[in-house]
Amino acid sequence: MRLVLLGAPGAGKGTQAAFLKERHGLAHISTGDIFRHNLKNNTPLGLEAKKYMDAGELVPDEIVMKMVGEKLNGFAPDEGFMLDGFPRTVGQAEFLETISKLDGVILFHVPDEEIVRRLSSRAVCRDCGHVTSRLENDKCPSCGGELYTRDDDNEATIRSRLKVFHEQTEALEDFYRERNLLFEIDAAKHPEEVFEQVLAVLSHDKD
Ligand code: AP5
Repeated sequence: MRLVLLGAPGAGKGTQAAFLKERHGLAHISTGDIFRHNLKNNTPLGLEAKKYMDAGELVPDEIVMKMVGEKLNGFAPDEGFMLDGFPRTVGQAEFLETISKLDGVILFHVPDEEIVRRLSSRAVCRDCGHVTSRLENDKCPSCGGELYTRDDDNEATIRSRLKVFHEQTEALEDFYRERNLLFEIDAAKHPEEVFEQVLAVLSHDKD
């Protein structure tokens, strides 16, 4: 199964990807995580991406497409994956069509003010990378590790990311709707209820 998880920043794509990875063993490819991993290791790619990420802007298509192309090259034709945070522009979606077929695109709908609330309290574990909320935990609920706040999770950058989503990524809804690949879910509910909708979508045979 080859899926794209589509939605605004903070819509819960990473949270649902973790559930799906556990349930279906699907490889999780998050372009944001790849950039953050590169940044942690001070690679030229990470340092270049940081300029855009800190401003809440998109990293240029050429850089992202090269990175994703190399990553997907390592997959056998029958191997499944979930793309989280890619594509984000029509150019990236057209590029993806040239390198892989998709089984579906799951669109997570969440109102903007709920996004701001979620991202303002998001916390990530320094040790295992688990994502949680400071409203619920002050230590990692998975391994007990220390939590940190992502540099781009401040209100000004969150609002820039939302603006970029509406201006550049929302067009992908029609792009995938026209290809009969789009499945829309209400992601403003509790994570487990959202996951039930995701599982319902995956068991649905789209004709
Ligand atoms: P990226 O890392 O992809 O960030 P994003 O799209 O902004 O999405 P997030 O990871 O922030 O959110 P998410 O939807 O995974 O939500 P999460 O599950 O964590 O990208 C970062 C940057 O990298 C971009 O701004 C850009 O600069 C660059 N970049 C990346 N890909 C690119 C590309 N393709 N092209 C160009 N540039 C690119 O959940 C959020 C919070 O909500 C958590 O605290 C979680 O616990 C909580 N939560 C989750 N679900 C629920 C729920 N149902 N109810 C209540 N709370 C919930």
